[in-house]
Amino acid sequence: MTFICTHTRYIPLVVPLLGLWFSDRCAANCLWPQPGPCPIGRPAWTRVVFLSPAILALLLQGIPVDWATETLVTVGATEGLAACFLGLLNPGDEVIMFDPMYDSYVSMARRSGAAIVPVRLRLPDFSVPLEELAAAVGPQTKMIMLNSPHNPSGKIFTRTELEAIADLCIRHDVIALCDEVYEHLVFGGAKHISLRSLPGMAERCVRLGSAGKTFSFTAWKVGWMTGPSRLLNPIIKAHQFLVFTVPSSLQRAVAHGLDRESEFYL
Ligand SMILES: Cc1ncc(COP(=O)(O)O)c(C=O)c1O
Repeated sequence: MTFICTHTRYIPLVVPLLGLWFSDRCAANCLWPQPGPCPIGRPAWTRVVFLSPAILALLLQGIPVDWATETLVTVGATEGLAACFLGLLNPGDEVIMFDPMYDSYVSMARRSGAAIVPVRLRLPDFSVPLEELAAAVGPQTKMIMLNSPHNPSGKIFTRTELEAIADLCIRHDVIALCDEVYEHLVFGGAKHISLRSLPGMAERCVRLGSAGKTFSFTAWKVGWMTGPSRLLNPIIKAHQFLVFTVPSSLQRAVAHGLDRESEFYL
């Protein structure tokens, strides 16, 4: 009795602490058993996403990928872009970018020490000036940055334009970084074609996608990329020291959406 009386004053402190511990445990158990972070993405997620035939058709444009060596889960496409620029570009390299462009490209690519070579899309339809593009490619060109469907214009690069870009990449041994976060926002019978699906391009393209854009979950910041392992390896190293990993509960939630409800969501 004396013990209870002496310690009663601690009850208001202990009860909320127990509650916090309990609710925390519940939340963690509901969300995901936490087996420790995995830099390239939780295998359960990448396996689901990249082995499903529906996803292959819908998200990967039919381009087969090895989920274990050719995929990376990122903190949105924003972090994916940063990891690509930092992992693939070095001081002295040049990267060709179509102008106008999404605002993070220039500031992020410059962090790598590379120089930006802009090629202005031609009005009124934002077509690619093919001769200017060919003239922009030089011995220092390491990468062509392609964003189709395009922000800010909504333009979808045509097959002819993509074939010209692919031809330049192959002839000059240039990498293509393909920001395809708006791949499902295509209207009026237009068809999005991934540069990575063209002959000879799977080996030199890295392709970025975003749950933020696909599911309108921008604030979740879950994205993914696919590409050949020779290009993904340096990107994974940059990603490791940028963020190390992506919250596994969000990876799991996105995998759930992609796996079971893809027809509903897309
Ligand atoms: C063209 C383009 N790429 C990438 C991003 C970033 O995507 P995320 O929200 O997945 O980081 C955006 C966001 O607006 C964008 O417009």
